[in-house]
Amino acid sequence: MANGKESGSAAPPLLDLTIDNITPNTIRINSQARDARLKYVMARLVSHLHDFARETRLSTDEWMAGLNFLIACGKICSDVRNEFILLSDVLGLSLLVDSINHPKPPLGTEGSVLGPFHTHDAPTLPNGASMTSDPEGEPMLALCTVRDTQGRPVPGVKIDIWETDSSGHYDVQHADRSAPSERAVLVSDDDGRFWFQGIKPVSYPIPHDGPVGKLLQLLNRHCWRPAHVHFMFEKEGWDHLITALYIRGDPYETSDAVFGVKKSLVIDLGKVDADTAAKYGVQEGSWLLKHDFVLTTQEETEKLRDQNAVEALKKLGLHNLKLVDHLPVPDVD
Ligand SMILES: [Fe+2]
Repeated sequence: MANGKESGSAAPPLLDLTIDNITPNTIRINSQARDARLKYVMARLVSHLHDFARETRLSTDEWMAGLNFLIACGKICSDVRNEFILLSDVLGLSLLVDSINHPKPPLGTEGSVLGPFHTHDAPTLPNGASMTSDPEGEPMLALCTVRDTQGRPVPGVKIDIWETDSSGHYDVQHADRSAPSERAVLVSDDDGRFWFQGIKPVSYPIPHDGPVGKLLQLLNRHCWRPAHVHFMFEKEGWDHLITALYIRGDPYETSDAVFGVKKSLVIDLGKVDADTAAKYGVQEGSWLLKHDFVLTTQEETEKLRDQNAVEALKKLGLHNLKLVDHLPVPDVD
């Protein structure tokens, strides 16, 4: 039973709750949860949420505006539009969560934001294939490798790649989308190589016709992302890497609306010479993207994540915690 008395837990009598005692009482009633991690996450969420209201002296109108904003985010969501990912992105939460969960040793390729436009229907293509159907795009050949932190090739990695068309839209943003375009899944070969034909990426505005766009406007922020290609790497035993490569010199290189750019992910495009054009069956003079990605093992990442967690909790003054499945919970045993 949910009733504290009948279940034998120590639920408090919920009477005369005030600004000063609502927080510990809410935490106490939630602490009947059996899952230790849920109990801990809810306790911290309630604590920060209540402090937010106390610190800002949140007005009733502001509280309602916040709720209506979330309702509007929910209403505009569809199978191909996720306003909540966008909200998380523009609030910097996506970048923060990725950085906490996927720390990289100095040699590992850094992560970047997933964004709201990854789909699960990209076709698996052989290396060298073209993933573009955009005749207006400037052709680009990509020659890449996947290696480990020791420089050894990693074969058999599934690599999901996606970018916008030359108008700055992902295929899912076109109402008449009949098939995936500007996206593909490749697999690295025995030498850790993968290569494909796409188009030179362009900068584009994130969808700004919804509540998140309105919020950016109120915050006097622009809605642009610098030109990039998304990459996602997956292989059992290896840390799941979600990243992107950004083209140097983009006007939004240092003001990405979703905070995804890192220096190590900014690259220069070259041009395809005659030999390379003949070898890969592309036009000489096309754009050339060359990049070596470095994956870290799951073991390397988990070790680093645990070390970072212990240090971060110490710095925050949070004691009496232990790590279970690499996540902190109260140490009550
Ligand atoms: Fe993107």
